[in-house]
Amino acid sequence: MDLKVGVVGFGLRSELYRHAHHPGEGSAVTVVCDTSERGRADAAAELPDALVTAELDDLLSADLDAVLVLTPDHQHAAVAVRTLEAGIPTFCEKPLEVTLEAVDRLLETAFRTGTRLYVGHNMRHMPVVRQMREIIESGAIGEVRAVWCRHFVGNGGDYYFKDWHAERRNTTGLLLQKGAHDIDVIHWLAGGYTRTVSAMGDLVVYGDVASRRENSDRRLSDWFSLDNWPPTAQTDLNPRLDVEDISMMQMTLDNGVLASYQQCHFTPDYWRNYTVIGTAGRLENFGDTSGDKIKVWNTRSQDGFVDADLEVEIATADGGHGGPSTAARPRPRRSLHGLPSQPESSRRSRCAATDRPSRCPRCVHPWWNTSPGVRTGARGRPASADSAAASARTRGPLSHSLRTRISRASRACCRGRATRAPRDLRRVRCRGPARSPSCRGR
Ligand SMILES: NC(=O)c1ccc[n+]([C@@H]2O[C@H](COP(=O)([O-])OP(=O)(O)OC[C@H]3O[C@@H](n4cnc5c(N)ncnc54)[C@H](O)[C@@H]3O)[C@@H](O)[C@H]2O)c1
Repeated sequence: MDLKVGVVGFGLRSELYRHAHHPGEGSAVTVVCDTSERGRADAAAELPDALVTAELDDLLSADLDAVLVLTPDHQHAAVAVRTLEAGIPTFCEKPLEVTLEAVDRLLETAFRTGTRLYVGHNMRHMPVVRQMREIIESGAIGEVRAVWCRHFVGNGGDYYFKDWHAERRNTTGLLLQKGAHDIDVIHWLAGGYTRTVSAMGDLVVYGDVASRRENSDRRLSDWFSLDNWPPTAQTDLNPRLDVEDISMMQMTLDNGVLASYQQCHFTPDYWRNYTVIGTAGRLENFGDTSGDKIKVWNTRSQDGFVDADLEVEIATADGGHGGPSTAARPRPRRSLHGLPSQPESSRRSRCAATDRPSRCPRCVHPWWNTSPGVRTGARGRPASADSAAASARTRGPLSHSLRTRISRASRACCRGRATRAPRDLRRVRCRGPARSPSCRGR
């Protein structure tokens, strides 16, 4: 018997229903509620077997096992408070709401009724974010002290300035509407929550565009085009624009981490760039989709821009809309890096791969030496007495596959066997005596 799932709000985000609609395989969308004719027509076309209604009461009485609330931000509490009161486990899109009062009402209802509430912070499942977090949790950059995020919202005019998003009464502002994702990610990467903020923003481009149109009869797909460029040439913007198109915010987190977030809606490109700085290095993503790179610097230099010490290729999402990646899922452990561990003293004195004095990155690199989550092992050496303890120390959150691949890449470099390093994960700077042809460093 399938779980019965309802959807409230069948607009752009309605694509989520596909994840819940697998008739005969465990779950099916049986009811859709939307207050607009367009939403109901789209739902009826996509889900001919579902009850499609304008009345929330019809949905509440449909004996549902779960509901997806996909209405505009300022309509989340009006809907989700009622689904929670009805005891229906509720997925509510981000941001939870647009005022503190409405958010409190939602949280209080979930707490009082004991009904499950999940906020749609789907970026936590994106490979780039999961992999950055794994690298951080491995100790690769030491203790996090700063997180900076620059968010280039190319397509901002089409995405946010032609419908309800453009009005402050519906969103409070795009710093909340759009930034909710990244502020959540900043908190997740930093391991703390914001306590104090200072911020500024302005409407510096779209406010001057004269072409306006009421677009409530249309959807994003009706007007979106990469040809709508430059932003000053945009047409058919929402009649009322009172949100910022550029914002900058600085945050102090409760664990002392300092963070900043910048958002711009008139860049030609669309992606997010994170820099995370710790006590032993920094990481930065270059691109945020499959095949792009996360780079890690640990080695001190004074040569201006230098290649990173490590590159990690961003995995492919397998869950839709940047969903979870199988590559990031833990896999059965064979052994730690497939290698036995060795005592601290011998690990520091010899390079495990080359058996030379330990001046290669693998041995003296702060990552390998200080990380509680990643340790090197002595290849070919018998397992030492402390291998079990060392192995236990390595059971950090860094996924086994990523940990193993990082280790292999390091070994390949130290041993001068560039071709053995996985293509997507290369130690590109080797400063040790065993520099290989793949080491593009100095
Ligand atoms: N997590 C993400 O990546 C992501 C991406 C896009 C949108 N969103 C979120 O999804 C939500 C919906 O955004 P969208 O772009 O799909 O908006 P949309 O305007 O395209 O669709 C909203 C739909 O909700 C309907 N609606 C409005 N009020 C309603 C109510 N009280 N009851 C029933 N239906 C109602 C509208 O008629 C419309 O069909 C927003 O909260 C947005 O922030 C999240």
